[in-house]
Amino acid sequence: MTSIAKAPGKIIIFGEHFVVYENTAILGAINKYATVTTEKTNTDNILISSSLGQSSIKKDEDVSNVEKKFRPFFYIAKQVIEKNNFDKGIAIKIESDIPIGAGLGSSSACCVAAAASILNLFNNTDEKEVLELAINAEKTIFPNTSGADCTVSVSGGIIEYQKEKGFSKIETENEFNFIIIDSEQVHSTDKVVERVRKFKENNSEVFTELCSEEERLITKALDSMKKNDLETIGKCMAQNQMFLEQIGVSNDELLSITKEIEKITFGAKITGAGDGGCIIALTKKDDDLSEYVNTTKYQTYHVTIQKTGMQVFNT
Ligand code: MEV
Repeated sequence: MTSIAKAPGKIIIFGEHFVVYENTAILGAINKYATVTTEKTNTDNILISSSLGQSSIKKDEDVSNVEKKFRPFFYIAKQVIEKNNFDKGIAIKIESDIPIGAGLGSSSACCVAAAASILNLFNNTDEKEVLELAINAEKTIFPNTSGADCTVSVSGGIIEYQKEKGFSKIETENEFNFIIIDSEQVHSTDKVVERVRKFKENNSEVFTELCSEEERLITKALDSMKKNDLETIGKCMAQNQMFLEQIGVSNDELLSITKEIEKITFGAKITGAGDGGCIIALTKKDDDLSEYVNTTKYQTYHVTIQKTGMQVFNT
């Protein structure tokens, strides 16, 4: 049997970084996907192939000895093999159209698709188990993850997320459209999260106050999302961007992209860890942004929120 799982990337509409410290974040699944195809093999090895290269690792190898980029997939395979007392290996093929290191949840979507595909090889399609396995796998390379990115990739749609409480779906009939502008500055989420931790340590009162302001902003943003009040959502995004600037995750290039795109959209901000990666801006479906798209030096994507999260197929 061949097992295939597909999981969407994400944008963080509000609350990145603050979510690491128990605050709320709002995320949306986007129409860019990671697809993972797996099969049981007759060898003792876990075979991984992806656009980042190939690797063959003995299934009883220690996870910390494995090259970082392959570690989460090896971890997932090893966990599932052990749990099912399987005496052979697994071949894993990873494909993705989500840009890497750009804040669009590429690593989380790959972890979710790998967890779903491998669990399905053993007839397990339980979403909670997929999520737990994917988050633990991501922790092998990014120990402080809030789990938000994996959660929205499993659930799809727009979610409100808190690290301790988990998620609830924001039920809205409205279609939200965004343009994403990729600064093409690759960032390391782990390093940026560590930088924010230092900022918090050295500026604890400022950080606490920003957390409260962000929480108030999110209450307002949620209300405007339910009412489809795009003007107010856009203003909230611009406000969120200012908070992100204060905690030091923006830079001159990101700021200049934000200012430019803000002129022709409802509002814009960094999405994800920042210090590179992407800017998202809220648009209407039929907004004509072709002049910007055709003249900017940056790669742009039009994305909509995907109601469906991870999906599993057998062939
Ligand atoms: C990364 O996409 C989002 C951060 O808030 C980290 C996390 O939530 O794990 C920066």
